[in-house]
Amino acid sequence: MIDLSQYAILARGYDTTTGEIKGAAVVRRWLSDLRGSFVDTQAFESALRQSDPLIYTVSSLEPGKGQGDLHYGLGVLMPGKIGAEYYLTKGHFHAWREAAEVYIGLRGTGGILLEEQSAGESQIVPLAAGTIVYVPGHTAHRSINTGHEPLVYIGVYPASAGHDYGSIAKQNFRKVLIERDGHPVLLDRTDVLATI
Ligand code: F6R
Ligand code: MN
Repeated sequence: MIDLSQYAILARGYDTTTGEIKGAAVVRRWLSDLRGSFVDTQAFESALRQSDPLIYTVSSLEPGKGQGDLHYGLGVLMPGKIGAEYYLTKGHFHAWREAAEVYIGLRGTGGILLEEQSAGESQIVPLAAGTIVYVPGHTAHRSINTGHEPLVYIGVYPASAGHDYGSIAKQNFRKVLIERDGHPVLLDRTDVLATI
């Protein structure tokens, strides 16, 4: 029998402006935390000399650690660009590679860059208010804000998923989403690097 009283607050209020979920632990990522994530390192360093803005916050809740438990987080990703590349999250694989995730878009406009590990397939899937994105297992995922207001979403994933940031830190995503003539285009990192 489940003891419901152990889940002190079953329903949580959340705030899509501040990114706050009542009682949740908050991780804040500033521009300086994202060294190595953007394709244009010169643009990154020069932006950082100007200021070190908050790029995104994630408020996470981990109600239980059992096999069938779920964890979830509210992400708020600010609008902006480094060079031509839109603001983004670090991105990760789940440490337990089988673990999938569901993203529910609450506010703003953007996408999730998905990269399958072994087949090497990349895809940008729209994430915006009113969309739901399924992130399969074995797939690296990175949120990207292509709009002019914060991109706000909830991600729900197995409690045992874990987060592997190391693989992305080592080789980054193969594709970059940059603005060309006012529109987002998905290009090979190597091709973009050759033009910088
Ligand atoms: C959790 C998840 C999201 C991200 C959030 C921030 O598994 O995918 O809640 O944690 O979008 O991105 P990262 O964790 O890559 O800094
Ligand atoms: Mn995830």
